[in-house]
Amino acid sequence: MGVCVSKAARLVVLVSGSGTNLQALLDASADPSYGARVVAVGADRDGIEGLARASRAGIPTFVRKLGDYPSRAGWDAALASEIASHKPDLVISAGFMKIVGAPTLEEFPLLNTHPALLPAFPGAHGVRDALAHGVKVTGCTVMLADAGVDTGPIVAQEAVPVLPGDDVATLHERIKTVERRLLVDVVGRMAREGWTVSGRTVRIGNPSGGEST
Ligand code: GAR
Repeated sequence: MGVCVSKAARLVVLVSGSGTNLQALLDASADPSYGARVVAVGADRDGIEGLARASRAGIPTFVRKLGDYPSRAGWDAALASEIASHKPDLVISAGFMKIVGAPTLEEFPLLNTHPALLPAFPGAHGVRDALAHGVKVTGCTVMLADAGVDTGPIVAQEAVPVLPGDDVATLHERIKTVERRLLVDVVGRMAREGWTVSGRTVRIGNPSGGEST
């Protein structure tokens, strides 16, 4: 699969919480040379700072709550149709704490960011689980989502040390400082240069035009 994006790539960003990764993307895309812009922000719940950040930036928002639908399939279809209405080149799960289903995955590339070095510590509690395991190094992973939980092809990773006395909050903050920079870097390069996926290998850059990774 090869994807090449020209003009500013259209990003739909999905959030469930504080939205600091979203904010990093909003800040980066203020520079036209970044090559991507956030065209909509979606959430699975109301009243979160991620939605407030989008509103302050003048970006349209939508909320699709799982509990408002009789079935998971209904929610998946509604989420996919709302995402499609914004015509994204790339969808980004930036702390969206729901598994995004087939209707979206079959239509759009979905980039996901996770606060651990996959395949270690997948799921909703990557920081807690790494700390509980006693690892000395953890980090963050940016991956293309597939149907599994944090199992998709890895685009980029960066290590972060676990320090004596860390709790989940201090360790997560240290990871997020790195994660925001990594996500902004990866999204910008994917938007400007396109990408290819071959099996589990993701390469950013046009193979005929010289690769950058
Ligand atoms: C990020 O650390 C992200 O990796 C994590 O939620 C945080 C969101 O922070 N996502 C997951 O744990 C998904 N499994 P933010 O709302 O401040 O961007």
